[in-house]
Amino acid sequence: MRRSLTSSSNRSGKQPVSQERWMRNTGSLLHHALFPVLHALPWPALLMDEEGRIVCANREMERRGVRVDPQCPRSLQEALPDYAAALRGGLGEAQDVRLTRQVEAQEVVERVWLRPIASGAVLIVTDETRLHELETEHAQTVRLASLGFMLAGVCHEISNPLAAIHSMLQTLQSAPRRDPEMLERGLASISANVRRILEISRQLSAFSRASREQRQPVGVDPVIEEALALVRHERWYRNVTVEHHKDPAAVVHANPRELLQVFFNILANAVQAMGGQGRILITTRRPGEERVEVMIQDDGPGIRPEHLPKLFDPFFSTKASGEGTGLGLTISNEIIHEHGGRIRAESTLGKGARFYIELPLWRRPG
Ligand SMILES: Nc1ncnc2c1ncn2[C@@H]1O[C@H](COP(=O)(O)OP(=O)(O)OP(=O)(O)O)[C@@H](O)[C@H]1O
Ligand SMILES: [Mg+2]
Repeated sequence: MRRSLTSSSNRSGKQPVSQERWMRNTGSLLHHALFPVLHALPWPALLMDEEGRIVCANREMERRGVRVDPQCPRSLQEALPDYAAALRGGLGEAQDVRLTRQVEAQEVVERVWLRPIASGAVLIVTDETRLHELETEHAQTVRLASLGFMLAGVCHEISNPLAAIHSMLQTLQSAPRRDPEMLERGLASISANVRRILEISRQLSAFSRASREQRQPVGVDPVIEEALALVRHERWYRNVTVEHHKDPAAVVHANPRELLQVFFNILANAVQAMGGQGRILITTRRPGEERVEVMIQDDGPGIRPEHLPKLFDPFFSTKASGEGTGLGLTISNEIIHEHGGRIRAESTLGKGARFYIELPLWRRPG
């Protein structure tokens, strides 16, 4: 390929405009060094001049049908529109993007690397289909492992109130005479335990229902507003001042219902910790090019240092029995991890708590 490109044009003495200009700009040393390297690469690669016209495509790229016509060099947009759409910066900007393409009814995941060089840019494509499969398998394994872990906890958590109901029923049944006070206490205990089982089941079923929905581009701040509106309707809400610094460009690719569940859990915890009244500060921002970060800070009592490492453990709760299942943060953590993000908490006892939710920023394709 190198020979045909360079020698044929040399032999005829006629070089295509872009190639000629490209060689003049880059110098023949670079030309002689670069083309053999390009052809030796085991990945599809091509060179573009500063106007984005393809001046050389290596053999691997040719196998994809990308041929360089010296008389009429094509642009990346014309030759490989999928890649041109994925690479949105100019040629002068180093970029690497992952994209999924349909090739003969098969899904192929590729990473396109663009690196500027003197008078143009080099583009290399690596196949990440297997890596993507392994990542998906790994995510499923982690999900299954955490579900298994959670399931063991669920059985344990449900068997405690069931055992209490069972023993209370036995006590009531075997009592020779059931005075009204005893009956009242027995029924109250049964009712509290049934409430706890129902609450655990409600949390878990909301989680499984939400996960069946499709992901889509979602603005983070409208979801936070929706979560705040839900929190305001809860019985423990009294009077909370909310300061919300928004970022309209903070858009993520997410399941909206799951995201709502996360913000509701974190805001509900904050309001509950403050006893229904106080001040919440929410800041949405985009640190760097690729992330969205939401910080939710309350001025409640804070979290004890020894509790911080346990916050996301299933059934960790400091709330009175019947008040909390200890699943809110476990499920929120699970959801955010599945979306490629993370949650962390900071707190100084007596000075409130701060939760950071980080998610990948959604980028409009093309
Ligand atoms: N903002 C906060 N301030 C103080 N403590 C908090 C805060 N957020 C969470 N916690 C602590 O973390 C624990 C676990 O929270 P999580 O949301 O998982 O469960 P829960 O609120 O107890 O129960 P559930 O959410 O199922 O009703 C809480 O019981 C509380 O001790
Ligand atoms: Mg909670």
